[in-house]
Amino acid sequence: MDKPIIEVRNLVKQFSLGSQVVNAVDDVSFTIQAGEIVSIVGPSGSGKSTLLGLIGGLDTATAGTIAIDGIEISQMKEKELTRIRNEKIGFVFQFFNLIPTLTALENVALPIQFARTPQFNPTQRSQELLTRLELDDRLYHRPQQLSGGQQQRVAIARALANNPPLLLTDEPTGNLNTEAGELVMSTLRRARDDFGTTVVIVTHDPDIAAQTDRSLHLVDGRLV
Ligand SMILES: Nc1ncnc2c1ncn2[C@@H]1O[C@H](COP(=O)(O)OP(=O)(O)OP(=O)(O)O)[C@@H](O)[C@H]1O
Ligand SMILES: [Mg+2]
Repeated sequence: MDKPIIEVRNLVKQFSLGSQVVNAVDDVSFTIQAGEIVSIVGPSGSGKSTLLGLIGGLDTATAGTIAIDGIEISQMKEKELTRIRNEKIGFVFQFFNLIPTLTALENVALPIQFARTPQFNPTQRSQELLTRLELDDRLYHRPQQLSGGQQQRVAIARALANNPPLLLTDEPTGNLNTEAGELVMSTLRRARDDFGTTVVIVTHDPDIAAQTDRSLHLVDGRLV
């Protein structure tokens, strides 16, 4: 078997608010192989976004270990983590996080311009990805001038911009109708088929989960 791209062991994330302790992620272990498309499902508040943030090195665990492509990240310093994130991981957040003053084209081009060793021409690559997501008639719109579903697709194009080996997505179809959701899923599958991209999809939607290779079910921070 191939080396796993994600290896999570006994992961715990606690949040303390006053005297209340929430075990958002509670002793979770799993592995994901390169090229898999895996969904994380479970009720609201079950720890899906928290788990995704830990895998992506956006937050630090209370206990346990996470290895990305064989590299242990749970004890890393911020500077090292930033490098791993930039080189290996594309993110699609639940609330898009697009830069409001930039056009769709510029939002997608930005991470390519920031890459240490750019593989693509920023404008050309950005245009190609946005066209694939049927946004070629919205290249010069700013986020505010786009619908929620269009902003979400821009965020997906941006996450794919540098062709990362690992794509972490939080509700990537959450604001989309069925047709636009299909477009996003086919774009993610194409990234996997063409480049071997590993894709993790947090979703509430059973139809989306059914299109992934397998699902991890979270309830109250635990895998069931
Ligand atoms: N910064 C925080 N401080 C305290 N509690 C938090 C914090 N972030 C999350 N939590 C708690 O951790 C639990 C898991 O939250 P999380 O956002 O991971 O859920 P989720 O499964 O992504 O939910 P949703 O489907 O609604 O997005 C929740 O009970 C939440 O209230
Ligand atoms: Mg969430």
